[in-house]
Amino acid sequence: MDYKKDVIYQIYPKSFQSTTGKPTGDLRGVIKHIPYLKKLGIKMVWFNPFFTSPQKDNGYDIADFRAIDPIYGTMDDYMAMAKALRDNGIELMLDMVFNHTSTEHIWFQKALAGDKKYQDYYILRPGKPDGSLPTNWESKFGGPAWNKFGDTDLYYLCLYDKTQADLDWRNPDVRAELSDIVNFWMTKGVTGFRFDVINVIGKDEILVDAPPETESKKLYTDKPIVHTYLKELNQHSFGQDPEIVTVGEMSSTTIENCIEYTNPDNHELTMVFNFHHLKVDYENGQKWTKIPFDFSALKNILFDWQVDITAGNGWNALFWNCHDQPRALNRFGSPDKYRVESAKMLAAALHLLRGTPYIYMGEEIGMVDPDYSSLSQYDDIETLNAYKELTVSGLKETEVMDIIRTKSRDNARIPMPWDDSEFGSFSTVTPWLTNPKTKDINVKKELESGSIFKFYQQLIQLRHDLDVISDGDITPYSRDHDQVFAYIRRLGTDRLLVLNNFYEKETEIEIPKEFVDDSRILLANYDISKNDIKTSYTLKAYETLALYVSE
Ligand code: GLC
Repeated sequence: MDYKKDVIYQIYPKSFQSTTGKPTGDLRGVIKHIPYLKKLGIKMVWFNPFFTSPQKDNGYDIADFRAIDPIYGTMDDYMAMAKALRDNGIELMLDMVFNHTSTEHIWFQKALAGDKKYQDYYILRPGKPDGSLPTNWESKFGGPAWNKFGDTDLYYLCLYDKTQADLDWRNPDVRAELSDIVNFWMTKGVTGFRFDVINVIGKDEILVDAPPETESKKLYTDKPIVHTYLKELNQHSFGQDPEIVTVGEMSSTTIENCIEYTNPDNHELTMVFNFHHLKVDYENGQKWTKIPFDFSALKNILFDWQVDITAGNGWNALFWNCHDQPRALNRFGSPDKYRVESAKMLAAALHLLRGTPYIYMGEEIGMVDPDYSSLSQYDDIETLNAYKELTVSGLKETEVMDIIRTKSRDNARIPMPWDDSEFGSFSTVTPWLTNPKTKDINVKKELESGSIFKFYQQLIQLRHDLDVISDGDITPYSRDHDQVFAYIRRLGTDRLLVLNNFYEKETEIEIPKEFVDDSRILLANYDISKNDIKTSYTLKAYETLALYVSE
């Protein structure tokens, strides 16, 4: 795969296709839909973890990095799936969850049984003399980041769930184990790796309390040593094959660090996911709140990352959706009235930027949040913890549910609807999460009469065909416009102007003369012709328009 010209598709295996009569998806199910993936035109699939796991955090709590969890199938099923994908020109990207293991992992179990070697794999510390926890750090899923280590006086660090114990990357044996795992999967036909929360692996030897008013994540995020660890991992594993593509998931990161992570001279990673643009609907930076998104912040973040990463010769992963985020269509678009227009506008706004676009399953058919009405419909551990915390904080039940409905990660995790039958042909029994939207939004209907999927096909093809999209530089256009996100891409004499109205209300924008006179319409989500392109242009509800000049 060419990371500048090709597009990656994300499959959440638990919700893609069940072939076994179970309520969850499996690897054989993926094989069934290879023609669909091929038709879309993507070149690589990133799979969320399908390794052996107690599934406390849906597979991000790994008990065996080299084995397939029985709910997804067997190693033979994996080999069959990998072969079928590769035979169809689709490569595989696997999710390496290397910050932590499940407490059911044999390493943790041996550590608990008293094996010193494996105790050194984890971050164990005594409590403070006053009996309190080793530090005041908070877990990302709520509550303290420490949990009692068996029957001892020690605690183990767990930045996520208490069943996810942080590994000690300071230990060279741990680092050697992890590069061996990458090498193992490279022998099994994997050419892409996503590294989960990889910028929090660099904890200091001496851990201290976060000072008052300081979030604890400041003490362990983007530490300089992360760059050293990544260089070493690169050298000992994926760096040996120049065809391999890597992406690091960066939590609360900075542009400067992401340039360093991805500038090819540094031999760390190919690209990074950052999440700043998906926090513009957080009140005071807090996820479990509900406010309208801040358009000007969204634009500034996207532009700053585009311009600065380009200047630093780094590389961005481009995404609106993933398994941890509610649907972008609900956040920044119009999930009901202008579902089709806004789905296309969001797609074009993102796919024509500089970076590698990722499509999260269902996005290409304009999937929306399920709008569950009761807590019992949710499964996600983070959501269930948030429900408790919000309730304790004194909010009314209706307010709590309103926030959960807007922010839960389960919004993205509902099963893929393949047709309008009861379970959308995802499964033959009630699925692990229900998808109440199946009747209206499903693959069969979209392929028969929809236009979003076709629009995605077009975007994928355009990136492949036009160097100005894959390689051009970027300049923000009309940066202060209060409704339009617009930019110009340039490469040699090729130029591309992209205009996106993020609102239902019509709005005027000036089109530069060169794009009025000499351009052609490369892409649009309304039926317009070249004669409509005037210096003063009115963008309709959620309109996107890309004008291209090539001399
Ligand atoms: C990443 C994953 C998320 C998981 C967390 C802990 O953010 O995307 O799903 O819960 O890491 O592994």
